[in-house]
Amino acid sequence: MQISVDNERIVSDLDKLASFSDTEAPAVTRIVYSESDNRARAWLKEQCLASGLAVREDAIGNMFARWQGAEGDGGVVGTGSHIDAIPHSGRYDGTAGVIGGLEAIRALKRAGFNPKRSIELLTFISEEPTRFGIGCLGSRMLSGSLTPEKASTLQDAKGESLDTLRAAAHYQGPLDMVRLPAGYYSSFVELHIEQGPILEKEEVPIGVVTHIAGPAALRILIEGEGGHAGAVLMPHRRDAFLGAAEIALGLEDSVLSTGAIDTVGTCGLVDVFPGLGNSIPSRVKLELDIRDTVAGRRDAVISHTEKKCQDIANKRKLKITCTILNADEPAGCDPTVVTAIVRACEADGFLYWRMVSRAYHDSLFMARIAPAAMIFIPCKGGVSHRPDEFAAPTDLANGTRVLARTLAALASQ
Ligand code: HGY
Ligand code: MN
Ligand code: MN
Repeated sequence: MQISVDNERIVSDLDKLASFSDTEAPAVTRIVYSESDNRARAWLKEQCLASGLAVREDAIGNMFARWQGAEGDGGVVGTGSHIDAIPHSGRYDGTAGVIGGLEAIRALKRAGFNPKRSIELLTFISEEPTRFGIGCLGSRMLSGSLTPEKASTLQDAKGESLDTLRAAAHYQGPLDMVRLPAGYYSSFVELHIEQGPILEKEEVPIGVVTHIAGPAALRILIEGEGGHAGAVLMPHRRDAFLGAAEIALGLEDSVLSTGAIDTVGTCGLVDVFPGLGNSIPSRVKLELDIRDTVAGRRDAVISHTEKKCQDIANKRKLKITCTILNADEPAGCDPTVVTAIVRACEADGFLYWRMVSRAYHDSLFMARIAPAAMIFIPCKGGVSHRPDEFAAPTDLANGTRVLARTLAALASQ
């Protein structure tokens, strides 16, 4: 089947999406349920409707754009990703899979393909942890990996609840309607930028993801005693930030001590109170991100960090509370879907590379309810979550072409 992908359309759609942002270009900021995020999703919904897809949104805002197959409602073939963006980030993370998925469907329609199984483009809500402290909110809930009860307890930094914020974005209905029935999807494929340097360095246009690392997030609250930076002598201090600094350096030691290159740890959020140069920090909030392709290794780092917190609390007379926000199992991608992607690469003569995803994605949770795999395309310098994130139009088109051919194969089974 001849598949023609409209590169210009992909680029102009991504440019349009990037215009819905709370920061000046080239940075993109699109936090879930913000005005920019709501407007971006409204625009995307119009594009899906204009492409002849039936669109529905669930009670938290996951969007499903369906191309009805000939054989009614047997398992649906899913594709898609997210369009929310962390502050001061780029325009390709997530959006490449949503716009690429839409263009793949348009290209199959232009090629005269008629799916046996329905094909559905998903735009998952809140893949980034920015607003509620937990990533993949939409895919967790539709896969049953997060209960409605737990979801209802989620609040943002201002104390606004998920229920209040989703209602303000006109998403109503009981949260227990979000979980999909078993067997809803017969397969799921997500197109995404690699967010790493391998494909560009090895000059390979397509990555076929075989494993997705499992993420864990910890929130650590440290309480000491504030005071005058000049008047309080060192022996009398209970400096919360020095405790935080020891925890962060301890995380690095613990990650490196696993000896595995796949174990990574980051202390990305440090909130110091009162946050003044001449005032001893009395309170600090840390958020740690710990990942590995092997859950046991990652969990050993978590336990070590919890122990370290206790030791530091005793040594520095601090109160330290450590909460595990999430610790998710890594996912193995489904061999049949991996094979479908490999066949699609071979059909168009694309070199490909089997690889691990160290970033997490909605596919991590889709893999719990359907055979799932991912297609990666290169991004410049492996950079992501930064305004200079960049994917070349040719790479976007290549990924879209491989996705289209993969979807056609899966929807013909
Ligand atoms: O953090 C991640 O891996 C994803 O980009 N949210
Ligand atoms: Mn991201
Ligand atoms: Mn992403």
